[in-house]
Amino acid sequence: MAGKPKDTTTTTDLLGRALSDLRISVTDRCNFRCRYCMPKEVFGSAYHFLPRAEILTFEEITRVAQSFAALGARKLRLTGGEPLVRRDLEHLVASLAAIPGIEDIAMTTNGSLLTATKARALKEAGLGRITVSLDSLDDDVFKSMNDVGFPVARVLDAIAAAQEAGLTPVKVNMVVKRGINQASIVPMAAHFRDAGVILRFIEYMDVGNSNGWQLTDVVSAKEILDTVGSEWPLEPIAPTRPGEVARRYRFLDGKGEIGIIASVTQPFCGGCSRARLSAEGLLYTCLFGTSGHDLRTVLRDPKADIDLTAYLRSIWARRSDRYSELRTAQTTPVPKVEMSHIGG
Ligand code: GTP
Ligand code: 5AD
Ligand code: SF4
Ligand code: SF4
Repeated sequence: MAGKPKDTTTTTDLLGRALSDLRISVTDRCNFRCRYCMPKEVFGSAYHFLPRAEILTFEEITRVAQSFAALGARKLRLTGGEPLVRRDLEHLVASLAAIPGIEDIAMTTNGSLLTATKARALKEAGLGRITVSLDSLDDDVFKSMNDVGFPVARVLDAIAAAQEAGLTPVKVNMVVKRGINQASIVPMAAHFRDAGVILRFIEYMDVGNSNGWQLTDVVSAKEILDTVGSEWPLEPIAPTRPGEVARRYRFLDGKGEIGIIASVTQPFCGGCSRARLSAEGLLYTCLFGTSGHDLRTVLRDPKADIDLTAYLRSIWARRSDRYSELRTAQTTPVPKVEMSHIGG
């Protein structure tokens, strides 16, 4: 991608963590109603989604990303809601790919709108890779989890489209919820180790305030690892880069790898290098944040003669978030941003 950024000063927070990733939510809408994320009882017809005028334009998102790149961000991830409900997303990808310093642009999607044509357009615009969310290969289980009756086969088509377009390595995210899709762990591992896809198991998290999370619903990383490892022996492998959220394991028979994202039982706040931008332009310094910094007002105020890069640096410099590490000590519940607002 495009050369070196002008300002390459490393930006660290109060815990000495450098800023390296920006996760950008492009919309708060989604065509699924996964029960662990956007349960219908909360996200029903009366739910007030953001009106268009309140959502950052592609130009505004690009401006924010340019400033983050100047502060040291090298990785961008597009999320939602479901990012592909936003039209012409490839135009945004093209603008982001032109930012000096950005080395990796990825997207997390439910795959429902990822046709072969869309996958090629995204690749041509500069998207590097794709992660698709899929919680089971069993149609009944998956349909009940996405709660809109969306079939497995169409998500598998999307995964194949991403592979054919070269949006690789393709990863699949599976949120594991006790009593719901635990029986899908082995079939998912069997399928994706043969398909050249990196499957990541995610411990069910207490994001937002809507999903009725309970610790007893969490299937721990250890249980997941034991389940997969008893079918096919595994060994841990080194992270691809510092601060990677997934712990990686490779199959000893050489058939690829899996990842486990254990935010509940093995928190990884110590290396957390991620900033999150919501669709309406709020900047969160933690997935479990209560409030964000309003960048939209700053971006849209013609009189505000603000140096955005310096402003963002000052926000990061004051950061001390480590929610997952403190979770177990938490006694009173705190209001948290919804997952569909900041895309995980
Ligand atoms: P790679 O770049 O491929 O390593 O992907 P990623 O892990 O950055 O992105 P992805 O969107 O696939 O995230 C996978 C899961 O990890 C999601 O459920 C996220 O919510 C969760 N996750 C990502 N970052 C964080 C984080 O900073 N804190 C916590 N608690 N969970 C996170
Ligand atoms: N716990 C864990 N992962 C979740 N995701 C959404 N809600 C939750 C939750 N409560 C996952 C999605 C997607 C990723 C961005 O976050 O399945 O793959
Ligand atoms: Fe939509 Fe992803 Fe949330 Fe499911 S997890 S409701 S696909 S944003
Ligand atoms: Fe980072 Fe917050 Fe997740 Fe900890 S809980 S890893 S600080 S986003």
